[in-house]
Amino acid sequence: MLTAEPMDNFAAHATPMMKQYIELKSQYPDAILFFRLGDFYEMFFDDALKAAEVLQITLTSRSKGSEKVPMAGIPFHAARRYVAKLVEAGFKVAICEQVEPPGKSNLVRREVVRVITPGVILDEEVLEAKENNFLAAVKYAKGKFGLAMLDASTGEFFAFPLLEATSLRDELAKFFVRELLISKEELTYEVECLLEGFVSRPLVVPLEKGEFEFSNANASLCTHFKVLSLESFGLKDNPASICAAGAALNYLLKTQKTAASHVTKIHLCHRSNYLLLDDATIGHLEIVKTARDGQRTGSLLGVMDKTTTTLGARKLTRWLLSPSTQKQEIEARHDVVEECTEKSANTEQLRNLLREVADIERLCARLSLASGTPRDMRMLGQSLCVFPKLVAWLSGMKSALFGKLVPFLESQELRLLAERVLRALIEEPPASTTEGGFMRGGFCPELDEAISLASQGKEWLIKMEAKERKLTGINSLKLRYNRIFGYYMEVSKANLHLVPSHWTRKQTMVGAERFVTEELQEYERKILDAQERRIQLELRWFETLRQEVVAKTQLILAASEAVATVDVLASFAQLAVENGYVRPLMEEGVAFEMVEGRHPVVEQMIKPQPFVSNSLSLNAEDGQLVLITGPNMAGKSTVMRQAALCILMAQAGSFVPAQKMRLGICDRLFSRVGASDNLSRGQSTFMVEMVETARILHSATSNSFIILDEIGRGTATFDGLSLAWAVAEYLCEEVKARCLFATHYHELTDLARERANVRNCSIAVQEKDGKIFFLRKLVEGPANRSYGIEVARLAGLPLQVLKRAKELLANLEAQELDEAGHPSILREAKKRRLKAQLGLFEESQATPPPSHASSEEVLEAVAAFPLLTTTPLEALNSIAKWQEKLKASR
Ligand SMILES: Nc1ncnc2c1ncn2[C@@H]1O[C@H](COP(=O)(O)OP(=O)(O)O)[C@@H](O)[C@H]1O
Ligand SMILES: [Mg+2]
Repeated sequence: MLTAEPMDNFAAHATPMMKQYIELKSQYPDAILFFRLGDFYEMFFDDALKAAEVLQITLTSRSKGSEKVPMAGIPFHAARRYVAKLVEAGFKVAICEQVEPPGKSNLVRREVVRVITPGVILDEEVLEAKENNFLAAVKYAKGKFGLAMLDASTGEFFAFPLLEATSLRDELAKFFVRELLISKEELTYEVECLLEGFVSRPLVVPLEKGEFEFSNANASLCTHFKVLSLESFGLKDNPASICAAGAALNYLLKTQKTAASHVTKIHLCHRSNYLLLDDATIGHLEIVKTARDGQRTGSLLGVMDKTTTTLGARKLTRWLLSPSTQKQEIEARHDVVEECTEKSANTEQLRNLLREVADIERLCARLSLASGTPRDMRMLGQSLCVFPKLVAWLSGMKSALFGKLVPFLESQELRLLAERVLRALIEEPPASTTEGGFMRGGFCPELDEAISLASQGKEWLIKMEAKERKLTGINSLKLRYNRIFGYYMEVSKANLHLVPSHWTRKQTMVGAERFVTEELQEYERKILDAQERRIQLELRWFETLRQEVVAKTQLILAASEAVATVDVLASFAQLAVENGYVRPLMEEGVAFEMVEGRHPVVEQMIKPQPFVSNSLSLNAEDGQLVLITGPNMAGKSTVMRQAALCILMAQAGSFVPAQKMRLGICDRLFSRVGASDNLSRGQSTFMVEMVETARILHSATSNSFIILDEIGRGTATFDGLSLAWAVAEYLCEEVKARCLFATHYHELTDLARERANVRNCSIAVQEKDGKIFFLRKLVEGPANRSYGIEVARLAGLPLQVLKRAKELLANLEAQELDEAGHPSILREAKKRRLKAQLGLFEESQATPPPSHASSEEVLEAVAAFPLLTTTPLEALNSIAKWQEKLKASR
């Protein structure tokens, strides 16, 4: 196998072309350099080795004397596919072109014209139409982080005020960052840890410190946005964010080598304006992807997405991950949805109009970055033509929010631009400019003349063929064209004796000869000149139009944002009509009331089975923490997630699946699943569970909403139960957040006896003939038993085992304590000592039990018991042994 000889050793005696390669490559050490050689892009040295492996292409070598350089090449016309593959594999690709026609000098001049990286990619075949593609930059400042996000494919640019490390992680997860820029010195262990465990980890690109330097960053941003200070963007007091934003913008400018005029503004995101979700919650609630396989189908987004444009689909994703906390904003959205549902026939018209709007954001980005095609331009023009119809439609509606959007779509300038583009370009222009043929006749007289010359020439050739046939008497004579010889006449061998003497022989074929005449060559020059002129003129016009589009970018992008908003709201209305959702009532306080609510996703997934609706209410008076018990599979997780998802939907501006919902606006939503219940992480540990729980206890407020699903399950029973109890207590005493707490620790239900703001609910099951039926109905009061054995029966455990288990359970329950009405678990402070008995606690007297040593032993055995690796049967056997010991010790 070939190995790469270090380039430096090679450079001294390399050919001029290889010297040129080495020089260019040295400027892009971290990218794979596509070096244009005629009809190919070639890669050398290490790049060739990497590319050959990723792209599955042949590795060859270029030899010079005794030396061999590894080489791999791809045809230039297929480059797009290969670039996509490399970028998806996490590489950067630098495209190096010949920037002068060959033959002018010995060595053709070459330049890198563009660098494509995972975070800066414009090719619509690589980008997911319904997803953003963000590049992030991070600047460390006094233990916190300044953050900026830039989507080069849409021009969206966001900055954040200083963030804690955990919040930074949440934002990176929320925006699906593909590439992360950071100063070399700041790429510390801490940052590495932060990115640990990301499902799709961004490519981390360390940059020189100078790229993040404040004065540089500030100056680049001001120059780019043509402002004197960044005050108008609210960025002035956020130096770290400015550093990050400057680095991101410069990276875009450097890789694309154009002005990036489609980045028209930077938006400062104040986190308090959004319902905050951390990355664990986003995962657990399966908001945009399922936990099991990372698919959109089966997620909340999958169910809710009724948008008709890709602009809307991306905005919907954003809204679901950053719902609003602003009552006015939320209600304005609800007003629109309400009006649209009332006029649903009308709304269908609107959706049909929206279907005619292409991805103008991305078209605009491509045209701005000079990689747009005539086809892109035409699509943009057609989309802009829909605006007047949209305006007419919106003007017929009463909602204030629609009214606010109208001015963005009403622009006279955009109407004129659209008309001009459509007048200039043919209906179905080619996807590339190189061959011309995309301009309409009648647009420019000079161009018309070139077009007519070129096409007249063709007619003339047909006439000439006929004429020569007649003159020579060669009926099979053909007048043809090829790239190498230009126009020629072909005569078969049998007719050669008829060829006139003034014809010049050009080429001999198997059965024929090819000739040219002076007259033919002269005409050929005329036609080719005309064609060349035509292409030049078309290109010039295309560039002019492109500049006109670039000049209107700001207007186009503002309009596209309005279209996206209209689309999402119309999609909410459609969803509400299809699935029978209602408008939620938004309030200031901390109420939560849901009447006959349904889980938006499960409801769709189990169709045609009916979903059993459930009512639930939380408030400071009769329970802001609700403990939900019930057997496995009863529907505890479902009812809790249903509440969380409906909150999210309501604050995103959507209607909700319920008969009625009242909601005091939430500032944060947390969702946690106990370690052993959490399948998606696979490797999850109890530690992860506790870290996540700790985060909730530290950051939740009285306006937050928390769902805790089987917390404490990842450790031994006593530990787990005690932790679950203490966490629940802390939540209702200190945090005072609204909280749903599902638990299989039956004993926890005692908490409600102690605290007024804790309430017990359970999911009803019906027992019949020793079997259980799940009713899926949430009812007041705790579950009376845990039904583990009945669930085991459903799972098909042998009868003998079930019988024995029942027997053992009866034994255990015979010792269950506290019939006196006291809670089983109480605080040390209340001088009730814990006495361990098989998952239960008992109030005990001052004197210790007689054989202390022996019960200690049991306790130790219980604590060290490998719960997760033991079968239920082994567990029961061990319990029986411990019981014997305890009985003996009394
Ligand atoms: N209200 C409901 N109506 C219909 N099916 C339900 C309902 N709640 C739950 N289910 C079904 O029962 C299954 C188990 O529910 P889950 O919430 O996971 O139970 P638990 O958390 O109590 O073990 C779900 O996958 C769902 O298909
Ligand atoms: Mg569950």
